[in-house]
Amino acid sequence: MNIKKQPDPDFIRFSFENRDIRCQSGLSIAAALTAANEIEYRKTSCGDKRGIFCGMGVCQECRVIVDDESSVRACMTTARSGSRVFVGKSRISASFSEMPATDIDAFETVTPDLLVIGAGPAGSIAASIAAEAGLDVAVLDERHSVGGQYYKQPVSSNVIPESLATDRQFSEGRELIKRLMQSGASVQLGVQIWGAFSPNEFAIYDGGKNKIYRARRTIVATGAYERGLPIPGWTLPGVMTTGGAQAMLRSYGVLPGRRILVAGNGPLNLQAALELREAGAEVVAVAELAAKPTVGALLSSGLRMGLSAPGLAIDGIRYLSGLKKLGVPVIYD
Ligand code: FES
Repeated sequence: MNIKKQPDPDFIRFSFENRDIRCQSGLSIAAALTAANEIEYRKTSCGDKRGIFCGMGVCQECRVIVDDESSVRACMTTARSGSRVFVGKSRISASFSEMPATDIDAFETVTPDLLVIGAGPAGSIAASIAAEAGLDVAVLDERHSVGGQYYKQPVSSNVIPESLATDRQFSEGRELIKRLMQSGASVQLGVQIWGAFSPNEFAIYDGGKNKIYRARRTIVATGAYERGLPIPGWTLPGVMTTGGAQAMLRSYGVLPGRRILVAGNGPLNLQAALELREAGAEVVAVAELAAKPTVGALLSSGLRMGLSAPGLAIDGIRYLSGLKKLGVPVIYD
């Protein structure tokens, strides 16, 4: 469900299984389809249906066919006007022996002092500091925007839900991105690294051509992704990671569903549940795997956290009190 009532005039149209899809430009295919209540993107060789799961390019469950190109990740690909998108089929298009040999010596070579792989918080700050100190720095990221999973920015100001208009995470991310862009580092986005031949030698595809990066030093800051707990039904379309659901809302202004159960472990679930509820979803509960903390544990760990990371402690209290105020139960154990 797209939570903006009036779509921006800058909208596009494409088709999914020959059905017309209309969406704000800049949305990923997965966000556009989710906004149109289309949640089945792929069929396995057994005929099982799959949908968006990780929402960050890792799990491969969202692979669709776009304009005859198979295995396109719907969560990582921007929807294009006029595209014809179909449910993906599970098949490998070519075996390794059928693939033509590649001569990497023919590729353009880039030789920075420092190569940073990943433009999330860690990669961005490392690259900024190195570039500000005078190094020739190249930053590569698979996404089409800087900030990574934590500081991901909305694709346009038109998609930010009102409840997130003054969000601190967005503004911290903007500062980080500004610093990186002003640091003198070369930032290339939408890049796939497909080969690593030595600790400082990588083959990449930038969407137009292959290149070889040979750096004096490399920082790999590719971040983390969530580990989904396998339970019956966990692969059904409509079941996704908390990060995937949050990215859908924060980057594209799209609710991943209307009626949502947030289940798992950790504070991200509380944050995501509150953001989804404030943006208009019905959040039936947060089911927390851990046992309910005792008053003593709350006091001692709360005090420790309050001293070492007061901002995080305040955030935690805000999430819990916000959920309580909005009638979302948190169930432990
Ligand atoms: S790769 Fe797209 S949902 Fe995981």
